Amino acid sequence: MMPGAAAEGRPTPPSTPEGAVPTVAWKSGDASGIPGAVELLDQTRLPETQVALRCGDVAPLIDAIRRLVVRGAPAIGVAGAYGVVLAAQEAKSPAAFRELCRKLREARPTAVNLAWAVDRTSAADPEGRDPRRLLAAARRIHAEDEAACAAMGRHGATLLREGGTYLTHCNTGRLAATGIGTALGVLVTAHAWGLRPKVYVGEVRPLLQGARLTAFELQERGMDGVLMPDTAAGALLASGRIDGVLVGADRIAANGDTANKIGTYALAELARANGVPFWVVAPTSTIDPSIADGTSIPIEERAPEEVRGWRKEATSPAGFPVWNPAFDVTPARLVSALVTERGVLRPPFELRRTLSNR
Ligand code: MRU
Repeated sequence: MMPGAAAEGRPTPPSTPEGAVPTVAWKSGDASGIPGAVELLDQTRLPETQVALRCGDVAPLIDAIRRLVVRGAPAIGVAGAYGVVLAAQEAKSPAAFRELCRKLREARPTAVNLAWAVDRTSAADPEGRDPRRLLAAARRIHAEDEAACAAMGRHGATLLREGGTYLTHCNTGRLAATGIGTALGVLVTAHAWGLRPKVYVGEVRPLLQGARLTAFELQERGMDGVLMPDTAAGALLASGRIDGVLVGADRIAANGDTANKIGTYALAELARANGVPFWVVAPTSTIDPSIADGTSIPIEERAPEEVRGWRKEATSPAGFPVWNPAFDVTPARLVSALVTERGVLRPPFELRRTLSNR
């Protein structure tokens, strides 16, 4: 996994564009950082309004993670890491601290980054007696995420051609991470390098992460983007206009099977059928070596109201039965390459071995 030589000397785009509200931040009036609170860019209000939501306790943070105020696997990992600091500030006993951490790590089940970050942060002080030590651990995860995004961007952009056209899914940019993002971060890097990528994005029903968030980010960075209904993906991939599909991941099993936003699997099959490369971009913190293959990845199912309408407006008959899985699993055989912060991996994937070669 050698870094792409073509990346040397090329610019790294900023994680957060000038003047924009960061996705996740720890805020405190004290130089030590304690006591403090987590501030989240409220993504439920994008693209209309950019405003931060302050969470001073664990319960509102869990609620924010569930409502997708903050979402995207790396971003909820960093938010969860800071949540452990909130737990230590709030808990009156080690047992109460552990219980808050348990609730936090279960706020969303599919993205492994949340449980991974809560476990790693709390391991720095398992009884929750020293919030400063926990804050240092959370800040390390935050800094690593930012650095991993930049590295994935550099590695992934070497796969792209000048003036190419790409399809991405959901939102995997700075709103899904604390750096430039994963799959979208690759495209943002290519843009900073002057490769002029054109980016197609589906709306991503039910919550419109593509239409509301990715389109917002593309516009924020002055990139060339096209929004389409999700149902246009087959026609687009059959048209021969797409040079590659780039997606993120919420959990990757040891064999490379990848859980990501619902609809990813269909794109992978369509890419294969039309001879288009399908690239997964994710930090190694998204790899779950404890899971052998995708059949054991827990898939979150969300509320029927998200499908029955949009925000407060009904678009289908009240009470009509709904199936609303948030993620699906793409088998490793459909993945052309996996881009991590350590480089570009090609199949067959043996990710337990990859992780043990630190
Ligand atoms: O439900 P969401 O919006 O949290 O789903 C996000 C995704 O599926 C992303 O593709 C994934 O987390 C990777 S983000 C860098």
